[in-house]
Amino acid sequence: MEWDHVFADRVTQLPESDMGLILKVAGMKDVITFAGGLPPANAFPVEDIKRAASDVLTENAPAALQYGAAAGYQPLREIIAGRMKTRGVKASADHVLITCGSQQGLAFLAHMFINPGDIVMIEEPGYIGGIQAFVSYGAQFVGIPMDDQGMRMDILEAKIKELHQNGKYPKFIYTVPTFQNPTSITMSLKRREALINISKKYNILIIEDNAYGELRYDGEELPLLKALDDEERVIHLGSFSKILAPGMRTAWTVAHKDLIARMVDIRQNLDLGPNIFAQTIIAQYCDMGLLESHVQESKTIYKPKRDAMMHAIKEYFPVEVKVNYPRGGFFTWAELPQGMDTGAMFDEVLKEKVAYLPGADFYTSSNVKNTMRLCYSNSTLEQIEEGIKRLGTAIKKQMDK
Ligand SMILES: Cc1ncc(COP(=O)(O)O)c(C=O)c1O
Repeated sequence: MEWDHVFADRVTQLPESDMGLILKVAGMKDVITFAGGLPPANAFPVEDIKRAASDVLTENAPAALQYGAAAGYQPLREIIAGRMKTRGVKASADHVLITCGSQQGLAFLAHMFINPGDIVMIEEPGYIGGIQAFVSYGAQFVGIPMDDQGMRMDILEAKIKELHQNGKYPKFIYTVPTFQNPTSITMSLKRREALINISKKYNILIIEDNAYGELRYDGEELPLLKALDDEERVIHLGSFSKILAPGMRTAWTVAHKDLIARMVDIRQNLDLGPNIFAQTIIAQYCDMGLLESHVQESKTIYKPKRDAMMHAIKEYFPVEVKVNYPRGGFFTWAELPQGMDTGAMFDEVLKEKVAYLPGADFYTSSNVKNTMRLCYSNSTLEQIEEGIKRLGTAIKKQMDK
C-alpha cells in the first residue's frame, strides 16, 4: 500500500527522531553507548514506589483507577505548586498542569501557540524533542548561539530587532537554561536577568524547560527563570522523569492560570487527561516524604559518573577536542576539530564498540557537523572509562585520516 498521500504535512515534514539510533545501539552486544539520555536502573526507588502503589490501591483505588481531572490530580498539582514556592515561584494549583512527560507539555504549547511559519527563538544547538514538537506545527526557527554562559543575549536582542524591522514577531523563546540538553551549559544569572528583560521589552513569552535543573553536582544554585519573572511571561516545564522515573510519564507545566486553562481545553480534545494511576502513586510517594531525599541520592549516583567521564576524557581524548564541563544533568558535549563530521564517522567509530549521539540534528539555523553529545548517566564507571578510551582512540584515528 502506498501511504504518502494520506499523511498530513505536519507528519511528512517531521525530522527523524534520534530515538531510532539510540535504541539501535542500545541493543548491540558489547557496544558501550553514550547516545541515549536515560537514568540507570539503580536510580529507580523500586521498593518505595511499590509501597506507594500498594498504599494507593489499598486506600484510594476508586480515585486512582477512575478517569481523572484533565488538569491533573489535584493533590499532585498542589504538591508541585508547593515545590515551586520553595524555589521562589508564586504558584497555586491553578497554575499547574500535569502532563504525560514534559514532552507532552511541549506538544501542547506547540498546539496552543504555533501557526505554520511562526517564529520560535531557540538555543543553537537546542533540544531535539523541542525542535520536533515545534516543527510539527510548522515553526520556523531562529537559532541563537551559546557560549559558556548560555544563550547569547546580545545576539538574541539583535535578531528580535531585525525580525521586528521586517514585521515579524517571534512567538516565544525556548530555552533549557540549566544543564542544557545537548550541551550541558548553564545560563548565568546575568543572562537570566537579561533574558527576562528582553521578554518584557519585546513582549515575548519564554518557555523554560527544566528537565535536569534539580540534578546539580557542584557550583552555585541559580534561580529559575520563572522565579525571576514578575509578569508571568515564563512558562516553566519540569518533570519527574529524571528525578524519579521516566516510565511514570508524569511532568508539569507552570504558567499564568489563563494559559493553563487554555491548555486544559486543548488537552480535553487531545487525550482527556494524564494517567491518574501514576499521578496518585507519585503524590503518595511525595506525601511519604521520599522525593527530596531521593533527588539527593540520585545526585550521588550521577556525580561519580560525571567525574569519571570528565577524568577519562582528559586522559584519552586528543587535546584538540573541546569538551564542556557539566555541573549537573546527564551529558557533556564535545566539539571536534573543524572539518570533522561526527555523523559521517559514526559507523566507523561503532566498529570500536562505542557510540555517541552526532550533534548535527540539534542545530536549526546552522550546518555544524563536528559535535557530539556524550551521556554518562546510564553507564557504569567501568563502561565510562573503557568507552571513552575507545572513543578517544577512534577520534584520533579519524583525525589522522
Ligand atoms: C530538555 C528536555 N526536555 C524535555 C524532555 C522530555 O522529558 P519527559 O517527557 O520524559 O519529561 C527531555 C528528555 O530527555 C529533555 O532532555
